[in-house]
Amino acid sequence: MIPILQTRDLNKHYRNSAVVENLNLTVRQGDIYGLLGQNGAGKTTTLRMILGLIQPTSGSIEWLGNPLHRTLYSRIGSIIETPGFYPHLTAAENLEIHRRMSGIPERESVMEHLKLVGLQQAAHKKAKQLSLGMRQRLGIARSLMHRPDMLILDEPINGLDPLGIKDTRELIVDLQKKRELTVLISSHILGEIELMANRIGIMHKGRLIEQLDYEEIQGKNRHYLELKVNDDQQTAVLLERQLGIHRFQVWEKGVLRLYEGFDNSGEINRQLVVHGIEVKELAIRADSLEDFFIHVTSQKELN
Ligand SMILES: Nc1ncnc2c1ncn2[C@@H]1O[C@H](COP(=O)(O)OP(=O)(O)O)[C@@H](O)[C@H]1O
Ligand SMILES: [Mg+2]
Repeated sequence: MIPILQTRDLNKHYRNSAVVENLNLTVRQGDIYGLLGQNGAGKTTTLRMILGLIQPTSGSIEWLGNPLHRTLYSRIGSIIETPGFYPHLTAAENLEIHRRMSGIPERESVMEHLKLVGLQQAAHKKAKQLSLGMRQRLGIARSLMHRPDMLILDEPINGLDPLGIKDTRELIVDLQKKRELTVLISSHILGEIELMANRIGIMHKGRLIEQLDYEEIQGKNRHYLELKVNDDQQTAVLLERQLGIHRFQVWEKGVLRLYEGFDNSGEINRQLVVHGIEVKELAIRADSLEDFFIHVTSQKELN
């Protein structure tokens, strides 16, 4: 199946610093894709590039296998910053203004979308009287009025109380089903994402260091090949250059974790030994997703 959204070696540099590096994000139709990463990881920058709000330094973005042309932006609804509303107008009036400005002909679209996000009771409340969670819902309603195929939400859970978080999560799952939407949502908290996402991409310092599917999220286990060696730097070089293995990290001094090459452990061992590395241990292990996330995002340097 061709992914609905695919970034290819997407890069964004500001002056000399890389904010997003060689990002290959794959979002499939119907996914609730959670883009996870601590503050500063590059999530917002990535979403802004996808939405055409900023230009990538290099790389490309594809929509169903074709370049994401401007005309396709209407297929996406989004909330990147806190949604702005006219505070003195009601929820319904705010959506009505949007309906007219966007040239959506159906007048009933306003009530339909207020209902869709569970705000029918609040239709005649002024925007300034709505709670943060309600404003978030109103923003989602507005972003869906032109019936996009994809919804992009940048940290929609930020600042919400626990009930608001639960409501938003349930709303997103519900919308995905009702509208057959694809949802791309960012967060810096794993616990919020893993309960709704069927796919998670972990970003760290501008790079996508892991992409996990439903089974891996649910099992919360990720398997890896653990290597204990006398020289982790030299081993890292050999893995990259000699064995073509890129998905690994130096976990701690003398210990590397490989997230690919499980079937090839014999060859890995042989190549390392041939090049003078002392392999003290080589074993397949599993780790919880949470442990992994905490560890990788608290590390200063990452391979
Ligand atoms: N316009 C900009 N100019 C320079 N640096 C920027 C700009 N926008 C973002 N950055 C930097 O890029 C990094 C990633 O930012 P961002 O994408 O907002 O991360 P996240 O959304 O994951 O918190 C941060 O270090 C931020 O300071
Ligand atoms: Mg951000």
